[in-house]
Amino acid sequence: MGESLELTSRQMESWSASDIVLWALDHYGDGLWLASSFGAEDMVLIDLMCQKTPHPHIFTLDTGLLFPETYDLIKTVEERYRVSITRVVPELTLEEQKARFQDALWQQNPDLCCQLRKVMPLERFLQDKKAWITGIRRDQTTVRAASPIVGWDTRFQLVKINPLARWTYRDVFRYLVAHQVPYNPLHDQGYPSIGCVPCTRAIRPGEALRDGRWAEKEKTECGLHQ
Ligand code: ADX
Ligand code: SF4
Repeated sequence: MGESLELTSRQMESWSASDIVLWALDHYGDGLWLASSFGAEDMVLIDLMCQKTPHPHIFTLDTGLLFPETYDLIKTVEERYRVSITRVVPELTLEEQKARFQDALWQQNPDLCCQLRKVMPLERFLQDKKAWITGIRRDQTTVRAASPIVGWDTRFQLVKINPLARWTYRDVFRYLVAHQVPYNPLHDQGYPSIGCVPCTRAIRPGEALRDGRWAEKEKTECGLHQ
């Protein structure tokens, strides 16, 4: 399995994202799920996937702390593409998290907060799935630079497909504009990368695209991608 995926991934280096999505649908059928945070990359993937299948499986990890603009975009996508987005929610409500741990856990212990509100729900959700598609790109972080297009996700124990691995941020926006795909208005207000409200700010001149995430902290990843 590992070896053949490695070979396939190498062959895919010259494929279009659209062909990679089609391959994934052919191979994993109903066991394939697209993980969407409704960022720019994920909007490209939603658009591609909806062109290829009338019944795309799309989920979002709804931490309860997303931007109002993101919640609005989820509804826009549901209406425009006539799809239903699966909301994967944490076991604890925000009130329960506050009572069990502390208020605004994200300030003192963002790793634990991400673990409770994103990683554990994702782990549970992916348990019976065959493959997931994500919008990670190699030029986002040094860790992501090594991402294959398709490979075995040892953390979550299923196949992981990154059709946009080779794309730049500019490629993503070129696609969105050319195909008139809706996107989060915050992207035009200095937010290239969008997560939860308490842990995302606009970037300043000279900052990198992900510098607005967990900006005042050491943290750079929430644990979904190793
Ligand atoms: S994060 O680890 O820093 O939060 P990032 O925002 O770059 O990740 O997103 C990378 C990819 O992870 C997205 O393209 C998407 O596939 C997946 N992802 C991130 N956040 C979520 C979310 N809240 N729900 C579903 N998928 C997500
Ligand atoms: Fe909590 Fe921030 Fe992680 Fe969202 S990004 S789950 S608020 S620590």
